[in-house]
Amino acid sequence: MIPMILSSAIKLATVRQADVPDIAVLIDIAEKQNLSRWSRRNYLDELARSDSVMLCARLPDTSVVGFIVGRVYHSSASGPTMEAEIYNIGLYRDFQGAGLGQRLFDGFLEKCHIASVEKIWLEVRASNESAIAFYDRNGFVKHSIRKGFYSHPAEDAIVMSRNTKIPDEMAQNTT
Ligand SMILES: CC(C)(COP(=O)(O)OP(=O)(O)OC[C@H]1O[C@@H](n2cnc3c(N)ncnc32)[C@H](O)[C@@H]1OP(=O)(O)O)[C@@H](O)C(=O)NCCC(=O)NCCS
Repeated sequence: MIPMILSSAIKLATVRQADVPDIAVLIDIAEKQNLSRWSRRNYLDELARSDSVMLCARLPDTSVVGFIVGRVYHSSASGPTMEAEIYNIGLYRDFQGAGLGQRLFDGFLEKCHIASVEKIWLEVRASNESAIAFYDRNGFVKHSIRKGFYSHPAEDAIVMSRNTKIPDEMAQNTT
């Protein structure tokens, strides 16, 4: 149960473009939530790219409590189309389960629509049931398994994808 004081701050949180001063917090969230470990250099390089999407969730006091990072790219696998990949999404534990992850994902999806992305990809640890439930809820389906993809601890990755536009009946279920 999220304390009242946090839940009001969460309601007023904004989802915006991340910037260099946010990097230390993104590294901290990634470490605490056991996400892929990116160095400061990795985040700086990502921020400098025009095809990168890096958004963070910011409370009214300006502290950052969550982020999403991914990229949009041209894919030639199924004809010349735009696709996207989510590399990382995470929130501090106290801010999970209150709709902020959804708002971060919606922000990413909006960027995908702007870039005419047709398909979104991601990988998730096979044991990460809550993230898989979150992705299910957002219309992702299991595509394949990458054996031993993760280390520390070693684990398979489930590759999931969804079309940027999802059928009307699913959109009704996700609102
Ligand atoms: C995954 C994560 C980003 C989701 O963000 P969140 O703020 O907790 O999720 P939300 O509250 O926005 O939930 C959105 C929807 O996803 C679903 N969902 C989220 N967590 C869920 C869970 N543990 N079990 C079942 N469904 C869940 C819910 O159905 C919810 O919809 P609802 O409105 O019907 O309740 C967040 O929990 C997190 O940071 N987890 C740890 C880091 C991580 O595992 N990242 C993924 C790496 S691949």
